[in-house]
Amino acid sequence: MYDSFNRRINYLRISVTDRCNLRCLYCMPADGVPLLRHQDILSFDEIVEVTKTAVKLGVDKVRITGGEPLVRKGIVDLIKMIAQIDGIHDLSMTTNGSFLETFAQPLANAGLHRVNISLDTIDPEKYRQITRLGDIQQVFRGIEAAKKAGLRPIKINCVVKNDSSEPDALLVKAFAEKENLQVRFIREMNLEKGDFGVVEGGEGGNCKMCNRLRLTASGKIKPCLFSDLEFDVRELGPEIAIKMALGKKPEAGLMNTVNGFSNIGG
Ligand code: 5AD
Ligand code: SF4
Repeated sequence: MYDSFNRRINYLRISVTDRCNLRCLYCMPADGVPLLRHQDILSFDEIVEVTKTAVKLGVDKVRITGGEPLVRKGIVDLIKMIAQIDGIHDLSMTTNGSFLETFAQPLANAGLHRVNISLDTIDPEKYRQITRLGDIQQVFRGIEAAKKAGLRPIKINCVVKNDSSEPDALLVKAFAEKENLQVRFIREMNLEKGDFGVVEGGEGGNCKMCNRLRLTASGKIKPCLFSDLEFDVRELGPEIAIKMALGKKPEAGLMNTVNGFSNIGG
């Protein structure tokens, strides 16, 4: 499917929960954010219905995000349901890695192809500071488990203040090289201020090349991370919501005052 600026849209990012076990400084306040009510969160059947519709319209690349997707109960079953949809050539997940040690193999068995793991430093103390709650050893074990399960290529998402020449970024880069992981450096963004940039080593942030639509945990199709536009799949039905989002996808992002990374998954 093509948007009104003739960009081919083939990538759907699905946020399956607004919850997270961590509280990264740049993502959430210390005591978290107001959470969605259970009844406002799409069921697995609803997510699958939207995904099938998107695939029918031309999506062939799907990423599962959060919040932290691995805190959603039954996530392995959801992956299995999505992996069974014909026509998805790339099925990935963005995770903070805390629970990958137990989930990597079941996820791979369910049909997940690969993972992106968030890691901004390799220093245990600093990791704890940035995530407020995280244990970096869990992430290291999660990376090992992902390798073992064949969830390749494994990519590391490293958030930087400015660019990849920062000390923590250099250490993450060296770690990634040693461990055979790809790394993408994401400049810390501010959705509300419309402060965003391109991702070094990744595809995000480049409006001209953007091929994405997003589905939030509460069932809104969002044509752009940096826009308040959203189309409710429960109100409109998946097909109309997707087509309206496609038609209204802005040429370039501006700002987003209604979502945070915690409910749209970056
Ligand atoms: N700026 C840039 N990246 C962010 N992420 C979360 N909040 C921000 C922010 N303010 C990233 C995480 C993770 C992905 C889900 O989004 O590091 O890699
Ligand atoms: Fe959780 Fe990811 Fe947000 Fe950190 S950046 S609090 S891991 S959702």
